Amino acid sequence: MTTTRTQVGIVGAGPAGLLLSHLLHLRGIESIVLEARSRDYVEHRIRAGVLEHVVEQLLIETGVGARMQADGLPHEGVILRFGSRDHRIDFRTLTGKHVLVYSQHLLVRDLIAARLAANGTILFEADAVSLHGIDTSQPRIRYRQADAEHDLACDVIAGCDGFHGISRPAVEPHLRVFERDYPFGWLGILADAAPSSQELVYANHDRGFALLSMRSPTVSRLYLQCAPDEDVDAWSDDRIWAELQTRFSREGGFTLTEGRITQKGVTPMRSFVTEPMQYGRLFLAGDSAHIVPPTGAKGLNLAAGDVAVLARALEAFYRRGETALLDAYSATCLARAWKVQRFSWWMTSMLHRFATHSDFERRVQLAELDYVTSSVAASTSLAENYVGLPLPA
Ligand code: APR
Ligand code: PHB
Repeated sequence: MTTTRTQVGIVGAGPAGLLLSHLLHLRGIESIVLEARSRDYVEHRIRAGVLEHVVEQLLIETGVGARMQADGLPHEGVILRFGSRDHRIDFRTLTGKHVLVYSQHLLVRDLIAARLAANGTILFEADAVSLHGIDTSQPRIRYRQADAEHDLACDVIAGCDGFHGISRPAVEPHLRVFERDYPFGWLGILADAAPSSQELVYANHDRGFALLSMRSPTVSRLYLQCAPDEDVDAWSDDRIWAELQTRFSREGGFTLTEGRITQKGVTPMRSFVTEPMQYGRLFLAGDSAHIVPPTGAKGLNLAAGDVAVLARALEAFYRRGETALLDAYSATCLARAWKVQRFSWWMTSMLHRFATHSDFERRVQLAELDYVTSSVAASTSLAENYVGLPLPA
């Protein structure tokens, strides 16, 4: 068995792990990223696609924003559709900012290209199997690659291996978990159809929630509320389009442009937070520490926020031997993560149909939508959360 040494051992080449490795590189700190899947797999994994203004700025300032700026779609607002009518939230007027629609897998590609161009080390098909010495100053990651086991010795481990990784379970006894599972999921499709709206449309219809999003001028991304364990095979393409047409119906008429569905799947909806996000020399970042329901488009952005904090804390540690920022990492990230959790839970609660809702609760939900879209104060609150709360100073 071979042992390699680096400063920061990173488990997972998702947005969290790759962005962390990039930010550390800019600060002269070495890292090695271990990724269980192949490069091709992670570069084609369809996920979300909305970047907060603060994250867009971070990517531009750190030199990995060129393709994002070229191909990303700036959105100055979003539409809430309920009672068969549209209500626009004007981000630009209310906050002076926009969001950027740019696929997560394209961002992953950009980050991998930037790391490799800078001679960074990303080991693909390298499955981290166990973590050792987390409560010592010399932790190690045991990983399997090409049927052989190896050790990666480091000073610090960054657990960026998502919700189903090994990092959080490795310290589970020391963590407290807060969670909420929602009684519904999202059936999402990718379709070769020109987007039927310039901006995202969040629809609250009597038959359930629906979301109109896009990936490019020729590719639409659409979601509809379904059962958490919905059988996607029970949904023919015709049935999906018919249901979407119904849920997006609007006074004065509105017809979705249909096209060939190239990908479909069901995503469960959960809110999940672990506290703390650090144990010994293991720092959790991104989905390994917290999951948000996708209604607020926050998962990727929250992951980026975590690693921005961790990179700065590691810089203070390596440059000045200071541990204050590292010691404060968990509290710093959780303060922002809980606000983002609140926003994602609120958007989910306001926009989905709950089978358990009484007629009274349904009326209150519609009244909340009416208030949020007719009050400058309330729509400003939605807008400032949607474009992104400031990253911790
Ligand atoms: N060893 C190595 N790699 C692993 C292991 C392991 N044992 N377990 C998981 N991984 C890899 C996964 O294959 C994946 O590529 O860790 C990566 C985790 O990436 P993400 O799940 O994308 O998590 P994160 O980087 O935190 O990004 C969060 O991604 O899933 C979206 O909605 C989510 O937008 C959020 C964002
Ligand atoms: C997406 O484009 O996939 C998307 C957009 C907004 C959301 C969730 C997903 O809230």
